[in-house]
Amino acid sequence: MVAGNSGVVCSAAPGKVILLGEHAVVYGRTALAASIDRYVEVVVTGVGRASQHNTVGARHAVPLLALERAAELTGLDPASITVTVAADLPAGVGLGSSAALSVALIRALAKFAGQPRSDALVCARAFEIEKIFHGFPSGIDNTVVTYGGLIAFRREDFVKPLATARPVPLVIALGRAPRETQKAVRGLRDRWERSPALYEPLFDEIDRLVNEAARAIAAGDLPTLGVLMNANHRLLQRLAVSTGELDEMVALARDSGASGAKLTGGGGGGAVICLCDADRERLVQSFTRAGWRAFAADIAQRGIDGADGAGRFEQHNSASA
Ligand code: PMV
Repeated sequence: MVAGNSGVVCSAAPGKVILLGEHAVVYGRTALAASIDRYVEVVVTGVGRASQHNTVGARHAVPLLALERAAELTGLDPASITVTVAADLPAGVGLGSSAALSVALIRALAKFAGQPRSDALVCARAFEIEKIFHGFPSGIDNTVVTYGGLIAFRREDFVKPLATARPVPLVIALGRAPRETQKAVRGLRDRWERSPALYEPLFDEIDRLVNEAARAIAAGDLPTLGVLMNANHRLLQRLAVSTGELDEMVALARDSGASGAKLTGGGGGGAVICLCDADRERLVQSFTRAGWRAFAADIAQRGIDGADGAGRFEQHNSASA
């Protein structure tokens, strides 16, 4: 076992959105993802207590299995550390909270153990933790959360950072229905296994939209990006991973000034992302009036390793939007 230091270390990692290409990415197509300016922060102390404190409610608690695996990967004894989690990133809605938690935890533990923590190493270890949360993830979440910014990702093939000619202004709205990425991914897998000929052309069509979207982003052509996001949502409906509630939210966004809107992440509930070059506050209010939580978000860069003892956040007691 590695001896940890006796101080306090912290690390913060951002949440993420999938701009286009979720689900198809599991089947080897390209997806575009971006980290967002909402974070999960992990603080590790070596006070020799095995307890975990969670400051943002059960959804952000570090599951014991994940903590044990992360400690094992770092060579630390989990009983010798205390892990505290804080976040302003809503959990369980497809915004990458498990990946953010995994990346921040791996970075903090490596720092605590005085080990190197290159992005490649952090990303690979976080993928191991993601498997505990999600079963068979494509790896897009831990990759974008580790490296930050906007990326094009193809499973076991490439990760390319994409430059944006203009900021990509987003509004994110949160559905009320409970959901699980793993369930949505498994459901689609069952349908695909029964009729691959039905689903393969839909994945190809999503791949085509993703490539067009990468060009639109590079050119700063937000209206075209919006059209492509709308088209991606229609294809996600055909994959049967959208829900009545998500479709309602997408319709509200388009009626309230968004140039594009779609579900993001696993679907079956969760969040929608809206591209909104106009008045974002007005769109947020439209969602709020209709009973959904929503907030403006921007693409963020990578997370941070805090100075010893200095947390990124004031400790929050809620992860509300
Ligand atoms: O729901 P999230 O944020 O975990 O996103 C999952 C994205 C999928 O493409 C549906 C699954 C994956 O592993 O890529």
